Amino acid sequence: MEQTLSIIKPDAVSKDVIGKIITKFEDEGLKIVASKMIHLSTAEAQGFYAVHKERLFFGELVDFMCSGPVIVMVLEGENAISENRRIMGDTDPKKAAANTIRADYGTDIGSNAVHGSDSPDTAKTEIAFFFKREEICPRKDQASSQI
Ligand code: CMP
Repeated sequence: MEQTLSIIKPDAVSKDVIGKIITKFEDEGLKIVASKMIHLSTAEAQGFYAVHKERLFFGELVDFMCSGPVIVMVLEGENAISENRRIMGDTDPKKAAANTIRADYGTDIGSNAVHGSDSPDTAKTEIAFFFKREEICPRKDQASSQI
């Protein structure tokens, strides 16, 4: 069992496809164990994407992530990190495989509908960036998951 951070970005929120994206995660076997809608401040977006601060697109990325509300979620499941990345598709929606979230709802590499952690270390850091431990409700021990 793993947990990973997922963000439904401002472009997807404004297209009213939050439900469709969450349904895709659930249909693929990932469970939502924490979730909230927030409007990132510039400082928060800069902090979250600090690893990209030297990249030419950093300013554009930060402005985009602050352009409207986002949904931040913790997804849980077997191999949740790689499964989430498979379900999202390539970072560039134009290169993303058919039926992936980015192919279906993304526009271009900047407006690509969703973010997902890329490794166990990143997942831990990114989850802690948005959620306190008590805001996460793991469901791996629930009987319902075995029905
Ligand atoms: P994400 O998975 O959120 O991680 C970093 C983001 O930077 C990535 O998705 C893209 O949306 C964005 N990004 C990567 N490359 C570029 C680029 N060349 N121009 C604009 N944004 C980019």
